[in-house]
Amino acid sequence: MTTERKRVFSGIQPSGEVHLGNYLGAVKNWVDLTDDYECIYCIVDLHAITIPYQVDELPERVFDVAVSLVASGLEPDRCILFVQSHVPEHVELQWLFNTVTPLGDLGRMTQFKDKSERVESVSAGLLNYPVLQAADILLYLAEYVPVGEDQRQHLELTREIARRWNGRFGEYFPEPDALIIGPGRRVLGLDGVAKMSKSQDNIIPLLATPDELASVIRTAVTDPARKRRDDPGNPHVCNIFSLHGAFSTTAEREEIEARCQTAEIGCVDCKLTLANNIAENLAPIRDRADELRAKPRLIREILSEGAGRARAIARPVMAEAYDRMGLRRVGSE
Ligand code: TYM
Repeated sequence: MTTERKRVFSGIQPSGEVHLGNYLGAVKNWVDLTDDYECIYCIVDLHAITIPYQVDELPERVFDVAVSLVASGLEPDRCILFVQSHVPEHVELQWLFNTVTPLGDLGRMTQFKDKSERVESVSAGLLNYPVLQAADILLYLAEYVPVGEDQRQHLELTREIARRWNGRFGEYFPEPDALIIGPGRRVLGLDGVAKMSKSQDNIIPLLATPDELASVIRTAVTDPARKRRDDPGNPHVCNIFSLHGAFSTTAEREEIEARCQTAEIGCVDCKLTLANNIAENLAPIRDRADELRAKPRLIREILSEGAGRARAIARPVMAEAYDRMGLRRVGSE
């Protein structure tokens, strides 16, 4: 007997190098979920163009993200991986959802407020960003959405859009649940204060070499109260210690915790251990990414096959949505 696997959808913007926030908050969980769910993962290029960007750099950024995702374990036999703009139904469904989304809800989105402060002129695309996100998810009738904590509010709006649409046009779209899993749900940046994010310039890149890791991590802020090497540190307020949580063994962490509290080790030692452990943990991903980068054809094939599989799911859903809204296509009556 075959049991139908529940469907998972998630997305990542091609807005620069994939970093440890993306990896721990999302991508690592995406890979784990492929064992038990039907997983659809999307590089959301249409979201990335809602803030100013370099046109000539975008194709390369999409390619780089695809390399990082496949290298992390999102092989095409485990999931569907594709680029958002290759499946035009995302935009079509977004338009339908625009008609049931309250304007006030969009203006209240924290990410909209943050981003609109950083751009000179705020576009309607930036405001409507979460409607496209709702369309991404609901186009596949997905039930689970693995994301970091920062996406919780967008997921709540997705549920609200599904509810409103269903209320008006009949029960059809599921109300998807955010899967916000594990200690990586909100990874802080090198400053130890803000969320790790490319736009904050505080990232540890997923594909950094061991030397790059050591030099980037050397600049990270630790326990701010520990001014000198001899001061005892407090690991529980230190972002470097929390990153050890994802990359070091329990025994190592216990030792670091004890020896930091007694000032037996300094922050430099603790950072070096972290850099080494990250380098070692992520070496297989780095190696695989090096191989994949030399095979742009393979990456293109994976994405194009992924778009085909995604579209096969999206089309009938779109047809149903049009039909229920009274937008019947000629010949389909
Ligand atoms: P994006 O591209 O900013 O991030 C991709 C994923 O990484 C997670 N993430 C983090 N998790 C923990 N700590 C951090 N510092 C950190 N930084 C990023 C994000 O939560 C996300 O899961 N709007 C989305 C993209 C999107 C999407 C979707 C997601 C578009 N459509 C549909 C899910 C479903 C975004 O900007 O993610």
